[in-house]
Amino acid sequence: MSTPSDARTVLVTGAAGFIGSHTAVELVTAGYDVVGVDNFANSSPGAVERIRRLADGPGSFEFVELDLRDRAALTGLLRRRPVDAAIHFAARKAVGESVDAPLEYYDTNVNATLGLVATMLDRGVSRLVFSSSCSIYGDARTVPLREDAPAGPTNPYARTKWMCEQILADICHRHPSWHVTSLRYFNPAGAHPSGLLGEDPRGIPNNVLPYIAQVAVGRRAELSIFGDDYPTPDGTGIRDYIHVVDIAEGHRLALERLDEAPGHRVINLGTGRGTSVRELLTAFSAACGRRLPSQVVARRPGDVAELVADPSLAAALLGWKSTRDVADMCRDAWNFQRLNPDGYDDTDSGGTGK
Ligand code: NAD
Ligand code: WQD
Repeated sequence: MSTPSDARTVLVTGAAGFIGSHTAVELVTAGYDVVGVDNFANSSPGAVERIRRLADGPGSFEFVELDLRDRAALTGLLRRRPVDAAIHFAARKAVGESVDAPLEYYDTNVNATLGLVATMLDRGVSRLVFSSSCSIYGDARTVPLREDAPAGPTNPYARTKWMCEQILADICHRHPSWHVTSLRYFNPAGAHPSGLLGEDPRGIPNNVLPYIAQVAVGRRAELSIFGDDYPTPDGTGIRDYIHVVDIAEGHRLALERLDEAPGHRVINLGTGRGTSVRELLTAFSAACGRRLPSQVVARRPGDVAELVADPSLAAALLGWKSTRDVADMCRDAWNFQRLNPDGYDDTDSGGTGK
């Protein structure tokens, strides 16, 4: 696999997290030297051990525990270990929590991004791939969503992502040598096919697929379906679920193609296919071999009927297209959940390999 000769060493922030860990494995396997950082605010050291087990070259993986808001620590790291590019995942991501703790969200998501950018400027690093989100589109009523759909973030979390995109556009305007791609993911789901890496949310899962997985493994009694009176074929909400390994591949391609265009560009990562909550539950039931219990409850405030990506820009600019479907996501998420019923807490005993 070819990599640009001048972007071999990559800083990955949030490397122990759900998407960061899969991307670290993808990059090391493709020959990159990855320097991962995380403060374990929403992850555990067990994930780092799993990355090491999966990412056995030809590239390398170094991990440093670090709070990205600590600019001195980040500067010290990049002095010791110069990098050619960065992929910035580290953030807080729970929409509801962001309404209750906006300061924490602006501090972690915006302030830490400012610190990263300042440190990159200081160290002469001008390539960045940034984790953005479909939540920027807010209450968009037209699907599928193209990148030029108007932004309308409706909560502090989404606003932090929108602010970061604007900050990055301004930095690129001021520094024409910068190359930045913001990837707007739709609904990441699934797990590594090995069963070693997956989504391990703390507390009660906010997102539907990890919740279903915990019902399947017996940690939760039943799925609460948030409303079945939406204007969709079965009345439940429709989303564009995208396999985390497809997302990881999207990051590698975005990195490899950064140099093709200076400035800031924004690209959706989604499949272009929508799946309802009921369809997802049926697919997971098929994956785990039993019908999973559910009950319909009231709509969750802030939810919209349907969010689906138009992924054609990613195909045109990155040569990227999702290759895994909802059945794959359910199979891999179930495999991870069944091998790691308590997530990474029981680290190193789970995940028996392929
Ligand atoms: P995650 O919580 O699993 O990973 C984020 C990681 O960042 C965690 O390991 C956490 O410990 C770390 N982190 C948080 N604050 C930090 C700090 N101050 N210093 C260092 N590390 C810190 O989340 P994820 O699902 O892997 O998401 C990764 C990125 O993708 C985030 O920026 C998120 O906003 C974005 N995103 C996620 C989704 C999704 O549904 N998963 C969708 C769209 C965008
Ligand atoms: C999906 C569908 C729910 C839980 C969120 C963020 C977004 C992005 C992705 C970060 C909806 C329904 C859910 C449950 C349910 N993350 N649901 N029962 O809300 O589309 O997007 O994650 O950037 O910003 O907002 O994802 O998984 O929470 O919900 O019925 O217990 O499942 O109503 O239709 P969402 P989700």
